[in-house]
Amino acid sequence: MRLLKDKIKTEGIVLNDNVLKVDSFINHQMDPKLMKEIGREFARLFKEEEITKVLTIESSGIAPAIMTGLEFEVPVIFARKRKSLTLTKDVYTAKVYSFTKQENNEITVSHKYIEKGDNVLIIDDFLANGQAAIGLAKLVEQAGANVSGIGILIEKSFQPGAEEIRKQGYRLESLARIKSLAGRKVQFVDTKETVYH
Ligand code: G4P
Repeated sequence: MRLLKDKIKTEGIVLNDNVLKVDSFINHQMDPKLMKEIGREFARLFKEEEITKVLTIESSGIAPAIMTGLEFEVPVIFARKRKSLTLTKDVYTAKVYSFTKQENNEITVSHKYIEKGDNVLIIDDFLANGQAAIGLAKLVEQAGANVSGIGILIEKSFQPGAEEIRKQGYRLESLARIKSLAGRKVQFVDTKETVYH
């Protein structure tokens, strides 16, 4: 997606060979116009799938997910990472290990919001090792619902998540695919573009 890639080029900061900082438009400050276009793009990509729910994980997935849900006119659910005071039982849970943070999170969604027969589109901001997306898919499957696809804003294609997700048979659509962050340069997959910071 041209708009997202342009934002990455102009505002993304390469912290090291593995991490791209996008605090000015995704992870801290957010760009509503960009999020609106992202919602439209996911709606276009998954229009044949008869999506009934959009599922993401707190917190940075929520903005693109809500814009996608708005396009499909379906509810948006975010899985919780922390234990909620009010959400204590009747929940689906999955363990998600973060290689980046080296910690385990138990993610949860109430039984109430995903039902058998739902066609669920999973949305998240980054795809690195794929643990969050796979954990979300497990929650959907526990409910007897269908994972219609996984939509990602920024895929770091040099990390194993994308391959793992495709290997598990899920449809994956990433709006920006990064081949490398080596040498403080963002190199996208499928293009010759190189950005220096
Ligand atoms: P995985 O789900 O693909 O296995 O990713 P991983 O555990 O490695 O990622 C842990 C957190 O770090 C996630 O956010 C993920 O979005 C984020 N992350 C991974 N790689 C990058 C990167 O290159 N740049 C940035 N900015 N973030 C990255 P989180 O902890 O769930 O945070 P949030 O959603 O509350 O913001």
